[in-house]
Amino acid sequence: MVGRRVLPLRGEGTWQTYVDCPAHHAVEVPDTVPDIVAARAYINPMAAATMLRLWPARGKVVLLSGAGSSCAEHLGRWAIAHGATRVMGLYRSESRKDRLRQVGIEPISTQDLSAISKASALADIAFDSLGGDIGTHVLQGMRGEANFVAYGLLTGKPVTTGAGVRARYHRFHMRDHFTVLAGLGMQAAFSDIWPLLEGAPPAEPRVFPAQQWQDALAEAERPGGQKPILDFCSLN
Ligand SMILES: NC(=O)c1ccc[n+]([C@@H]2O[C@H](COP(=O)([O-])OP(=O)(O)OC[C@H]3O[C@@H](n4cnc5c(N)ncnc54)[C@H](OP(=O)(O)O)[C@@H]3O)[C@@H](O)[C@H]2O)c1
Repeated sequence: MVGRRVLPLRGEGTWQTYVDCPAHHAVEVPDTVPDIVAARAYINPMAAATMLRLWPARGKVVLLSGAGSSCAEHLGRWAIAHGATRVMGLYRSESRKDRLRQVGIEPISTQDLSAISKASALADIAFDSLGGDIGTHVLQGMRGEANFVAYGLLTGKPVTTGAGVRARYHRFHMRDHFTVLAGLGMQAAFSDIWPLLEGAPPAEPRVFPAQQWQDALAEAERPGGQKPILDFCSLN
């Protein structure tokens, strides 16, 4: 490992210049994966890959909320690669539409409640990162044998599960699956992720020197914004 690039994922604190961790916790990054992609290779890709293992998309109609997000894009692209028959995505900012179409996800505006109702009734699996009114609308519109997977709360509000809900509601949190991943060995867990990211890297991020962290936070909050990356090398 000496001289190699690694992701030090499970050391004590990872936002720092030096991380001391057991060697088997440091995941080697292949030469073909640029730093900017490797920096985002962990939580969203791993969560998307794990969800698709738990709720396989082959032959299924998939609905994504928060479709402009990185995690939803991984879910959508890989669901298509796994043989989903149709993938639809609910977006907030119009600027996301072209990219969604480009990667094979049918865009539906979060303003269009009637289209959301139709999409929900068709969906076999919904991966919801929004919660709130949209998440609740989707859950309430889904059929009895369908699966609704709640993995994010971008609206800051919970989904209302109650009378009239027929679909199966599941909560997903990556941290519940770390023990299994760690058991396999993190290197092994990444062996499937690297080729996927090489073939389909996430949308271009915007890099901020770490000193400009307030600007990075503002970019993260901006509708239609680019994913901010903090560059700590600028501190050296
Ligand atoms: N459970 C888990 O283990 C797990 C793992 C990974 C990620 N997550 C969750 O997944 C979600 C997405 O993460 P990410 O890193 O992929 O996000 P991201 O790339 O930063 O994208 C955020 C997206 O959310 C949209 N958004 C934000 N607030 C919204 C609102 N109030 N209404 C509608 N849309 C809104 C943005 O819309 P615009 O298109 O308008 O900008 C943007 O498309 C987060 O909630 C994160 O915590 C959970």
